[in-house]
Amino acid sequence: MKYFLDSAKLDEIKYAYENFCIDGVTTNPKHIQLSGKPFMQVVKDVAAWIKEEGIEGMDKFPVSFEINPHHDKWEDIVEAAKEVASYSPNYVIKLPCTEQGLIAAKKLEKMGIRTNVTLVFSPSQAIPVGKLGAKFVSPFVGWKENSGDNSIDYISDIIDIYRNYGFDTEIIVAAVRNGKQIGDFAALGADIVTCGLDVYKASFEHPFTAYGLGVFRNAWDGTAKE
Ligand code: E4P
Repeated sequence: MKYFLDSAKLDEIKYAYENFCIDGVTTNPKHIQLSGKPFMQVVKDVAAWIKEEGIEGMDKFPVSFEINPHHDKWEDIVEAAKEVASYSPNYVIKLPCTEQGLIAAKKLEKMGIRTNVTLVFSPSQAIPVGKLGAKFVSPFVGWKENSGDNSIDYISDIIDIYRNYGFDTEIIVAAVRNGKQIGDFAALGADIVTCGLDVYKASFEHPFTAYGLGVFRNAWDGTAKE
């Protein structure tokens, strides 16, 4: 399973890349706002870091950027996407799962600009994304679970559908909130999870690990060393 970092903060991206072996990055307008930088500045800074790090190439380290969500005509989405994509060969354009977003995704994929169709909440939304050959589909789980829905079934259905019909689109399970969800979706066979740095950090810990460390420290302290 690949781990993507859901963040637009360059210091977090560098930290997670150097220490947690993350395989890519996803961003959305909330992350750009949290970075405190203008959108195009983040686009340029991340492109410069990718170059400096020597990880240029879509298959090495894909980074998704969501274009202006106010665009609701495919022509405008395509224009904005072309501009962002021109900054790095690693850039994937995130666009919403709407009729116009899907039309734009199909046109961009034909032009060789890879896409990540986001804001997916049902298997019936994921099917056209696979059919058009988008690079990624991003079904959200945290938002669904907050509203009381069971996200295991719908992610499992999307995985089955993609396998049944041989779609190459990779499934990024998005808005992941805890380690249990990471384990659940890995066991189901999802390709990728994306979550924030804090969620990854918490997922590495377990109360029994902390307890066990205490037990072993006590034993170490109560034992002669030579
Ligand atoms: C995914 O690609 C999104 O950026 C993300 O997971 C959205 O959810 P969140 O910001 O509520 O975590």
